[in-house]
Amino acid sequence: MTSRHLPPDFLIGCATAAHQVEGGIDNDWSVFERQVPSPIYDGGRTTRAIEHYTRYREDLTQLAAAGQNSHRFSIEWARVEPSPGVFDRAALDHYRDVVRVCRELGLEPVVTLQHFTLPRWLAERGGVLAPDAAALFARYAAVCAEVVGPQVRWWVTVNEPAVLAVQGYLDGQWPPAERSLVGMLRAFGALLRMHAAAALALHQTARRRGGSALVSVAHHERRQRPRRERSVLDRLAAIFPDFLFNRWFLRSCLTGRMLPPVGMGERVPGLAGALDYLGVNYYTEDVISFDLALPGMLFAHRDNDPALPHTSFQWAINPAGLRRALLALWHETHLPLLVTENGVADEHDELRAAYVVDHLNAVLDAIDEGADVRGYLHWTAWDNFEWAEGYTKKFGLWSVDRETMARHPKPSLALYEEICRSRLVPATAPEWLTTSTIGRAGAR
Ligand code: FCB
Repeated sequence: MTSRHLPPDFLIGCATAAHQVEGGIDNDWSVFERQVPSPIYDGGRTTRAIEHYTRYREDLTQLAAAGQNSHRFSIEWARVEPSPGVFDRAALDHYRDVVRVCRELGLEPVVTLQHFTLPRWLAERGGVLAPDAAALFARYAAVCAEVVGPQVRWWVTVNEPAVLAVQGYLDGQWPPAERSLVGMLRAFGALLRMHAAAALALHQTARRRGGSALVSVAHHERRQRPRRERSVLDRLAAIFPDFLFNRWFLRSCLTGRMLPPVGMGERVPGLAGALDYLGVNYYTEDVISFDLALPGMLFAHRDNDPALPHTSFQWAINPAGLRRALLALWHETHLPLLVTENGVADEHDELRAAYVVDHLNAVLDAIDEGADVRGYLHWTAWDNFEWAEGYTKKFGLWSVDRETMARHPKPSLALYEEICRSRLVPATAPEWLTTSTIGRAGAR
């Protein structure tokens, strides 16, 4: 098979999130990181992160020099609104400048308003479950649209609502570290209301200025498949987690209603029309087996597919899942799709080249089969703070010296750069980049 062309106007670049790269942020996560003993695997903190807040000009220049034409980043709510209703002009100017620099460098900005973190003052009054969280988020969104927004077309309101609800409220791995099925369902509902309210604010502000905004969430598609297709119990056990994680939020958006089991089908203000496109984050698929010992998890035991090679996060590598995801989401929504994240935790940069080539080919397959996919944003540019895993998971095309903060290109960057420049995706990664240990990867 020969190389394949990326479609004209296809966006290609990297995605980041403020808390993982900026450093010096005071929010619910920075409080969480300071707990003793540390809830972070390597005890890592984001006091410096990778100092992107001060180095953004050089960093963005580096991305553009590597042939990229788009960049996803997030605005940090805690910086912009350090106390309720008080907006920090310097922080807003900072993000406005990030957008300006992106534009100057030919990087189409994709701007996220909430990427897992919250201001402390909101966390203290209940976080996303605070009764006025949606209204507060909408006010913040309107200010961002007003000040940062005039040059922004692509917006993401909430990053991966399902991941935040599960990690923060069911698994207890992230703030607010709760473990409750009911709490998780309430968080799903609260995040849906936040998305609806912010989408409305973004649309209204853009319209008032005579412009338009493309709004979505970044939906994390991680299908939960029965481990043994032939087992009725595995199939039954997979239905609820798969629906809740992958389809509940989306279908609620498409109908404009809070669907069961979170709501009773009631209308959510602003929700109808709150998706102009669909941001898709894809990393892997899981397998579910029925487990009598897990009544609290509705008898669903989740695993990484043992039949597939794994990343150093132990996630199964499954490019076919990305093609499936894009086609399923296209048929379900008929919205333009943007891959807002896809990437690999890869300690020694052995898997990344093949991973990128295989996943980009999966995107092109989905396009050939009719899906309207507008772009691909790789997670991520620079190794950074990977939430509860601290600095142990290496998703970057560049490594970062944790002392000097110098960025060093990894071998796989050369391939990504070549793809971005030529706009051609090879059938396979060049051999010199794939001395890979696929199959035995998995550090922890
Ligand atoms: C996604 C998150 C992103 C990063 C990647 C590895 O779920 O949105 O911040 O942590 O996983």
